[in-house]
Amino acid sequence: MNDQAEGLRNRESLLAAEEKKSSVPRIISVTSGKGGVGKTNVTANLAYAFSETFGKKVLVLDADMGLGNMDVLFNLRPRWTLRDFLFDNRSLADVLVEGPAGIRILPAASGVEEMTALSPEQNLKLISAFDQLEADFDILLIDTGAGISENVLTFNLASQETLIVVTPEPTSRTDAFALMKVLNRRYSGKPLLFLSNMVRDRREGLELFDLVSRVADRFLPDLNLSFAGFLPQDPSVTQAVRSQKALSEMLPGAPFSAAIRQVARDLLARVPEPGVPSGIGLLMKRLVGKEG
Ligand SMILES: Nc1ncnc2c1ncn2[C@@H]1O[C@H](COP(=O)(O)OP(=O)(O)OP(=O)(O)O)[C@@H](O)[C@H]1O
Ligand SMILES: [Mg+2]
Repeated sequence: MNDQAEGLRNRESLLAAEEKKSSVPRIISVTSGKGGVGKTNVTANLAYAFSETFGKKVLVLDADMGLGNMDVLFNLRPRWTLRDFLFDNRSLADVLVEGPAGIRILPAASGVEEMTALSPEQNLKLISAFDQLEADFDILLIDTGAGISENVLTFNLASQETLIVVTPEPTSRTDAFALMKVLNRRYSGKPLLFLSNMVRDRREGLELFDLVSRVADRFLPDLNLSFAGFLPQDPSVTQAVRSQKALSEMLPGAPFSAAIRQVARDLLARVPEPGVPSGIGLLMKRLVGKEG
């Protein structure tokens, strides 16, 4: 083979590798220490902003086992969950439901505990189905439950980045800190993004971040924590929840909607840190305990 042809071949395989890389979705888990601080609303509205405003293909995994309510927020009535795919031969296409702006939602109400007890055939089925999903999405958002249960930790450890929702309530701060501590112990250096919710303005959001990061600097010096932005306390969020719509769809001009678009924009501008493995297939491998 002459040099030119070889050069071309190398370039082509490089481009193919690049293409493959860009088809791996970015995986962001949304979590909190304390419950009821806005995770599900953040996930739903971020999904909407990524999809509607920035044209991304978004998959939302409702991983709040047992208490998942993403479907309620989007006024959907999913007939099946990941459980039906695993145990009752439902196709993944059947289980995925479509929300506004083409967002796909995967109700996962099967429990990680159950998923770690799968047979080798079921493991393979799960991993290969998710490997195939990979090419269809740019971003996977995972709405986790609150707290530091094994279930929640697993999703947060398997994601590429973890968005921690914190409100000015002291209990939200201390619970967020406890969660960061546990996450950092299990995965030191994991990119953690601090999102201040229900604050007055950016200034209060930054104050909240400073308060927590000062304590973190003292007690968890190797914590990889950065500020992801703020979301204002906005009464129309509750109104939207009652109407079973994402606020950014219902009232795109509301302060919360504008702020969530800014958070989405900043997240997209953030280059994911090198060396942090990604991929939905990988996430599933970790969930079923096939990969550390
Ligand atoms: N920025 C905001 N302004 C006003 N209300 C908000 C805001 N964010 C969330 N809320 C309200 O807080 C309540 C809880 O929100 P949400 O269900 O999203 O929290 P969560 O963290 O997912 O709760 P859980 O831990 O139970 O899953 C909702 O009633 C919602 O309307
Ligand atoms: Mg929730």
